[in-house]
Amino acid sequence: MALEEHVQPKESFVRPSADALIRCERIEKWYGSVHALTGVDFHCERNEVVGLVGDNGAGKSTLIKILSGAERHDGGKIFVEGREVRFRSPKDAMALGIETIYQYTAMVPHMSIARNIFIGREPLKWSLGGLGWMDLRKMADHAINSLTNIDLRTRSPDTPVEELSGGQRQAVAIARAMYFKSKVLILDEPTNHLSVKETNKVLDFVAALRDQGITSVFISHNLHHIHPIADRIVAMARGEKIADIRKADITVEQMTAMIV
Ligand SMILES: Nc1ncnc2c1ncn2[C@@H]1O[C@H](COP(=O)(O)OP(=O)(O)OP(=O)(O)O)[C@@H](O)[C@H]1O
Ligand SMILES: [Mg+2]
Repeated sequence: MALEEHVQPKESFVRPSADALIRCERIEKWYGSVHALTGVDFHCERNEVVGLVGDNGAGKSTLIKILSGAERHDGGKIFVEGREVRFRSPKDAMALGIETIYQYTAMVPHMSIARNIFIGREPLKWSLGGLGWMDLRKMADHAINSLTNIDLRTRSPDTPVEELSGGQRQAVAIARAMYFKSKVLILDEPTNHLSVKETNKVLDFVAALRDQGITSVFISHNLHHIHPIADRIVAMARGEKIADIRKADITVEQMTAMIV
């Protein structure tokens, strides 16, 4: 489809395949009197990078918080691999392979890289009636492997996260998602406040994830970050989806005109 106007007609929105990994239908969300999401349909396929764009307050973070179990929707349905789900917490979403790196990265700065990779899911040496001892050795070994995968191998897994740059912290979060073999990695503005070099690294990671069969949903204000890596672009405005289009069918300039 060629985009002649700055508005994509709803009939030409890309539709989910029968095999979609995640599919949401008519999602509604209210925060008090704020209608944050109005009947939003969203999906992602296997092995796909979806760029999610839109202005401040468009509803991007709200949508992904619902997909990752951090917020409940007030209406609509969510299906993962064809089955309807109701997430009570991020743990429920993680159990189905949905991992999220939030806009304000959830890491514990004074803890080590290794502890941050395993946070909440620490391997235990042995346990007694629900009480266990963490297997620190195993965490360190696995952390070294994950860090090698993502090019942070010069850092010891014992390094506290507070000594890492923003890009390196994103890298640790990505290592975590890779370690737990997520099916979908959702990144909410992962390139905010990063240097050009760090940004490029994060973009490379996302491309590498796709090569390993992991789908990403990548939220960004910066269309120039999204355009090179995305297979498909979803744009939101004022709580609604206003475009859902294959990258091949749109230029950065057309995209800019559409969301401004
Ligand atoms: N916890 C909350 N309580 C009340 N209103 C909220 C809350 N979270 C979001 N909103 C409102 O919902 C709407 C959508 O916000 P959301 O954070 O999803 O936007 P966004 O597209 O992620 O924006 P940004 O690009 O600035 O991160 C906004 O009007 C926002 O003010
Ligand atoms: Mg946001």
